[in-house]
Amino acid sequence: MIKYGTAEVNELGHLQIGGVDTMDLVEQFGTPLYVYDVGLIRERARGFKTTFENLGVTAQVAYASKAFSAIGMIQLVAQEGLSLDVVSGGELYTAIKAEFPTEKIHFHGNNKSKEELLMAIQYNIGCVVVDNFYELELLQSLCVEMNHTMKILLRVTPGIEAHTHDYILTGKEDSKFGFDLNNGQAEEALTVALNSSHLHVLGLHCHIGSQIFETIGFVLAAEKLIKKLADWKNQFNFEAKVLNLGGGFGIRYTNEDTPLEPEEYVAEIIQKVQTGVEQYQLTMPEIWIEPGRSLVGDAGITLYKTGSSKTIPEVRKYLAIDGGMSDNIRPALYDAKYEAVLANRVNDPVEETVSVAGKCCESGDMLIWDLPLPKAKEEDILAVFCTGAYGYSMANNYNRIPRPPVVFVENGEAYLIIKRESYEDIVKLDLPLSVSVKQ
Ligand SMILES: Cc1ncc(COP(=O)(O)O)c(C=O)c1O
Repeated sequence: MIKYGTAEVNELGHLQIGGVDTMDLVEQFGTPLYVYDVGLIRERARGFKTTFENLGVTAQVAYASKAFSAIGMIQLVAQEGLSLDVVSGGELYTAIKAEFPTEKIHFHGNNKSKEELLMAIQYNIGCVVVDNFYELELLQSLCVEMNHTMKILLRVTPGIEAHTHDYILTGKEDSKFGFDLNNGQAEEALTVALNSSHLHVLGLHCHIGSQIFETIGFVLAAEKLIKKLADWKNQFNFEAKVLNLGGGFGIRYTNEDTPLEPEEYVAEIIQKVQTGVEQYQLTMPEIWIEPGRSLVGDAGITLYKTGSSKTIPEVRKYLAIDGGMSDNIRPALYDAKYEAVLANRVNDPVEETVSVAGKCCESGDMLIWDLPLPKAKEEDILAVFCTGAYGYSMANNYNRIPRPPVVFVENGEAYLIIKRESYEDIVKLDLPLSVSVKQ
């Protein structure tokens, strides 16, 4: 078992997290169940923050709430003094309900609606990350209407795509997001923004990818952006106050993954920015980052009950659990890999290899292929690790399966932060056939 946060095996041979026996969690809250190790989230948040502090760099660490958004989670982010990145009216609304300080909210998205931008203005959020020309115009006109000045970052695509160990230098990026840094679009956007009466440009933003294990992609992006800022100082007399390098820091889902400590990513990025700033005689900008997965990913596990199994001699054994792509769509969506153990018998010897199947009516609903396990009986508890990011946030009601609850555990205590959906919840938005259609 990979060591995840406070996860350990107790004297009963049960998986225990945050000082709470997972069997007690199952008894109290049922399965499937998402469990978050709050101590680990705090540790990760502090890791990023103190790195910047130790380097003496003014920074904002904004939690990318798309990874997992819920009122309780956002309140935890506030407790840790982070900023917040939202990408929709729904994520913004959640932050407002959590009473998150609005000046620390940054609003992303490639097609923010008029209503969403109005919400951003009404709640006086800290910054809108403007993605395209349409948004620049729309935001300016709404700000005029509302007599509001909005701080903005311009999202640019620097022509670097990073993913896990690969990074690609593309020159021109084929992406739906942002202004191209290489073909003059970014300059055009800056000109529009600088001439807008109600927009105040803080600087640039880029996000080069996800689950990144190397610093090289970030370093190249920082280098390109700093060079661009140097050009803009000469060309437009514009000096950026903020440089936002996005999220994407990788985590260990399986033993094949080799992430760096957050401190290592940050230190290298800062070094590159400082070198560039000195070289081009710029003012050191504030550095903002937006980690999502690396704050909550390995802090989450999902507990399932095992059920039916099917053995195909000389092919494989399928072991089904009481959830699947409705609570974790990542394996079906991008072939994501996970580790798992039997949480009620962690120390039992491995006896067989099974493939863990979800219960959705879809052959692609497989959670883990070829997992070594003790011989599973009915109603064993399977704990799948590292489901804290893009698990609940991508959960859905396929097959009208209710979404599981979310429990936070810390210092021997467990408390619900999202309730289990009921069948009643599943049908609550449905309306019966209208009288005219019935006849
Ligand atoms: C703009 C932006 N920032 C931050 C993130 C968070 O990425 P991660 O969860 O990989 O850290 C994403 C993820 O898609 C993103 O698109």
